[in-house]
Amino acid sequence: MPRLDLSPTDLESILLRYGSDPTNLLQILREIQEFHGWIPPAVIDSLSQSLSLPRGHIEGVVGFYSFLHAEPIGQFRLLFSDNITDRMLGNQDLLEYLCNKLWLERGHVSEDGLASVDTTSCTGLCDQGPALLANGYAIPRLTRQRLDQIVELVLQKVPVTQWPSEMFLIEDNIRRSDILLGNNMQPGDALRAAIAQVCVPGSAVEAAANQRSWREGIPSVELCAPLSTLEEIKRSNLRGRGGAGFTTGLKWEACRNAADEPRYVVCNADEGEPGTFKDRVLLTAQANLLFEGMTICAYAIKAKHGFLYLRGEYRYLLETLNAVLEARRSANLLGNGILGQAEFDFDIKIHLGAGAYVCGEESALIESLEGKRGIPRNRPPYPVTHGYLQKPTTVNNVETFCAAALVALNGGDWYRRIGTTKSAGTKILSVSGDCARPGIYEYPFGVTVRQVLADCGAENTLAVQISGPSGVCIGADEFDRRIAFEDLATAGAFMVFDESRDMFEVARNFAHFFAHESCGFCTPCRVGTAMLKATMDKIAAGHGTQYDLAEIDQLNRILLQSAHCGLGHTACNPTLDTLKRFRPTYERRLKSLDFEPAFDLDGALATARRMTGRDDAGAHLSMETAEPLAAPPPDESGVLLARTES
Ligand SMILES: Cc1cc2nc3c(=O)[nH]c(=O)nc-3n(C[C@H](O)[C@H](O)[C@H](O)COP(=O)(O)O)c2cc1C
Ligand code: SF4
Repeated sequence: MPRLDLSPTDLESILLRYGSDPTNLLQILREIQEFHGWIPPAVIDSLSQSLSLPRGHIEGVVGFYSFLHAEPIGQFRLLFSDNITDRMLGNQDLLEYLCNKLWLERGHVSEDGLASVDTTSCTGLCDQGPALLANGYAIPRLTRQRLDQIVELVLQKVPVTQWPSEMFLIEDNIRRSDILLGNNMQPGDALRAAIAQVCVPGSAVEAAANQRSWREGIPSVELCAPLSTLEEIKRSNLRGRGGAGFTTGLKWEACRNAADEPRYVVCNADEGEPGTFKDRVLLTAQANLLFEGMTICAYAIKAKHGFLYLRGEYRYLLETLNAVLEARRSANLLGNGILGQAEFDFDIKIHLGAGAYVCGEESALIESLEGKRGIPRNRPPYPVTHGYLQKPTTVNNVETFCAAALVALNGGDWYRRIGTTKSAGTKILSVSGDCARPGIYEYPFGVTVRQVLADCGAENTLAVQISGPSGVCIGADEFDRRIAFEDLATAGAFMVFDESRDMFEVARNFAHFFAHESCGFCTPCRVGTAMLKATMDKIAAGHGTQYDLAEIDQLNRILLQSAHCGLGHTACNPTLDTLKRFRPTYERRLKSLDFEPAFDLDGALATARRMTGRDDAGAHLSMETAEPLAAPPPDESGVLLARTES
């Protein structure tokens, strides 16, 4: 439980731990939030002085991240995960139940300041939902009985850290393992294999080592092993697992070739895409493999510093991961002179996110690492040349680094033999939704959707959402398609919907997600995602028309052309996919009119009619539009009004 009495000494000790370094601002604020429960104005003043940062900058950072608060939010902050799979498991009923039990209104702090209850975006526990975060710590498999237990603990003011540990038990649910999840590599094996590499006389790697030796001021023989490692990664055809599928070897090479130093290695463990939780399991079950992969990367690109950017929802993993790092330092697998190599110095720090999906975008993630708001940068230049602190930086997904460690150990040829010609290796899928065995499945690339559905015990499947809301929704006639970059590329989410589900409601949930997570930096996305959400709500409320459906297409075109980052580019995907494949679910909600405004124009003229004493037919708009709207869809932004006015 937050102490709510942060003294100047407490603040000093937090600042001391972070070296009063402004790039650590987010970490400092996160600790204050955890310690104190919110970030009071006086603390912002102190930070402004201690870190020599403008007050407005700090307020901007606090305002950006949804887990930071400039106002009290109660001693117990209970946030229900609100992915579509949580909804399918009944999270809305449970939320209402908890609010009633605690005598409070959703989104408001109880009058005694004890607790608040609200929702948050997907917490990465879709295989064991519904879930909630209690003061940032995840509790899976919620039931009414579990909520009764939580209510008791809250009312007795028991600190969350003293709640029964079985409440926080999160399972890995590994259902199918292959080379990654089934590996038995010992810490250091891959690093030793990398260091032992030699240049084959007359090879291209030897020529490159000779050429670089002069430029980099390193004897060519010492360059053989790192450059051979790089060569193996390139030969493996490993492609990034974070979604975009960029060739990992080329990324590492571009970073190594960047003239500037120091270079940085960053692992993207933000995993915010709804329906994705495979990185959580890798972080739990394969942390050594991940850190080994990051260290291999540092060796290949000659980096000295690494960061693991861990999403705030995975806060509970922090201590365990730090312990793994500590053990690796003790084993000389991190720190100075790794495994006796004089020039091989590298260490890793963990940075925690604070609830912002957009921070998964690599340039936004780097901004966040620098202690700023996570707003995506203009690209180019790319992080490989201008990344963390404008220095060359390699950013890869958790699964990519794990695979890279295996490539270093077993060689590129071994790796590319697994999977398909264009998609080497395996892919880990996070399977959730309507199936008997949700969890983690690792397959060689090329597996069909039908096979995955059979393995996870899905029956009467209507649709599968591949790669989360930003991915693609497919129907039953496409279940023979394959998980591979050349067919269904995916960052890992595999959400199953059976015939009892309404795909319109699925798309509506995703439209809400994008509107909530848009960082607001660029107008097309800020306004466009709000418009999409409002349109879906309007259709849900029974006021949609064919005109609204046509508008979504137009909106998509605008977002594709002018949104600043991938979030805006993909925001319409779920709506367009479901419209294409499940159009009747939209059409049965539509009015027969060509167009219905989202507000009551005739009603707005009532005052004028009263003032002029007129109520004849000529003083009204057509009777069709004169009918007042029963329940206007929620529109926090006023965007719909602006659109219909223009
Ligand atoms: C809105 C948005 C969110 C993203 N979230 C993640 C994420 O959570 N994890 C991730 O690895 N990549 C994410 N990405 C992709 C990253 O920008 C980047 O391509 C990736 O981390 C590179 O690693 P890889 O080459 O190993 O795939 C996201 C991209 C966008 C546009
Ligand atoms: S597209 Fe959306 S998320 Fe991306 S920068 Fe623009 S407003 Fe932010």
